[in-house]
Amino acid sequence: MNSELTSALEEIANAFAVDKAFLAKATNHFLVSMDVGLANEVSTRGYMPMIPTYVTSIPTGKEHGLYLAADLGGTNFRVCSINLRGDNTFDLKQSKFPVPVELMKGNTSDALFSFVASKIEIFLNDHHDDLDESVTLKMGLTFSFPVEQTAIDRGKLIRWTKGFDLPDCVGRDVVDIFQRHLDALKLPVAVIALANDTVGTLLSRSYSNDSSKTNSNTVIGAIFGTGTNGAYLETIENIPKIEHKFLPKNTTGMVINTEWGSFDNTLEVLHATKWDAAVDKETSNKGYHLFEKRISGMFLGELLRVILMDFFNRGLVFQDLYKSRDNTLPHRLTEPFLLSSKILSYLEIDDSTELKMSELLMENELRLPTTYEERQAIQRLTRIISSRAASLSAIPIAAIVTRVKDQYADDDKDFEVGCDGSLIEFYPGFKQKVLDAFEVINPLQGTNKKLHLRIAKDGSGVGAALCACMV
Ligand code: BGC
Repeated sequence: MNSELTSALEEIANAFAVDKAFLAKATNHFLVSMDVGLANEVSTRGYMPMIPTYVTSIPTGKEHGLYLAADLGGTNFRVCSINLRGDNTFDLKQSKFPVPVELMKGNTSDALFSFVASKIEIFLNDHHDDLDESVTLKMGLTFSFPVEQTAIDRGKLIRWTKGFDLPDCVGRDVVDIFQRHLDALKLPVAVIALANDTVGTLLSRSYSNDSSKTNSNTVIGAIFGTGTNGAYLETIENIPKIEHKFLPKNTTGMVINTEWGSFDNTLEVLHATKWDAAVDKETSNKGYHLFEKRISGMFLGELLRVILMDFFNRGLVFQDLYKSRDNTLPHRLTEPFLLSSKILSYLEIDDSTELKMSELLMENELRLPTTYEERQAIQRLTRIISSRAASLSAIPIAAIVTRVKDQYADDDKDFEVGCDGSLIEFYPGFKQKVLDAFEVINPLQGTNKKLHLRIAKDGSGVGAALCACMV
């Protein structure tokens, strides 16, 4: 590899490095940010939203009944019906519908919710056409964006993330809009609970976790997918911002949706590289969710693209290609967000001779012919980007474990995180790297306890049903 390219790669590796001191500092900063977010009612860019969810306990596994769940939060909209059997198990029927890109931005919330309601009609016709006319089905809505919740079934959208941008919806109650569209279709459905996907994941993993078998307590629900976020149960005295609101007297805790995607928006500890800044600049929520933009599936491919374009502009890669194409590059390289993180998951582990598999993949998926040297550089970059993402992902987990571990001082059970999302589930080595970085931070030092990251399949749907059931 030529020495200029080698030193450009070294520059990125250094700029993205995550060492023990960084992890310790960031974990402490996360702990401080949690308290600030729990004290401040108004959500600003300066701190994590730490949103009270009005879910005041977590399931025991004994809950039962038939519930509907709708899940909107990314590229697919899902509808499910869940029959909770009361013994840690459930039956699930579900349908998945891709959300048309033209409904995600440059449109109205009515267009989006009318699409969503029409899919519920299809689902009910396909799976529940035998229901008694007098029955109204109870539904939980999983809505995976920052929402200021004012009750278990009420919440106003604070801002869109993950590429959605329908300005008329911001500040409005999403349950209201959704119910109006269901009623317009005369569907026998009442939306009685609103939950973030992380809250759903926490609830569903808690329901499925038979702790007598796993010897672990479920303490966090986390998503590492298109976006990233986590929820956990906080003791009520530690949430000053809900002090004055009405709560039943015996309430001891409440699930908090941290919105950790917005950890350190002011970049006090996180890497402030020019490549991260370039990615942020392309998003509709600029200056927000900067932690998410370093970690989650929507942004890893974009980071690679931005770095490759920088290398191209510095004359380090794709020079012959550019000339051979009449001074152009393939549009999947020049246009934002067309290089999917899924491609990185193949590049990451390619061990074929001269990285031939990557060569084919990039030709097919990106229309990008490459030299062996370019492929070596691209694989190195992929690994640098994904390793940083995985190591950063350990920070919120370690901070929350540090915060809650004393509550479990009297038992010998391990801690588990219920997880969902494509990165944690499918990206090669991601989960192990999160665990490795957690070990470096080592919040369980001095105990015999371990941390487990357990996939909560279909977590957000089942969790919304559980929310509806606990109302
Ligand atoms: C949203 C969160 C959500 C996370 C994972 C983020 O962009 O702000 O509400 O939980 O993505 O889906």
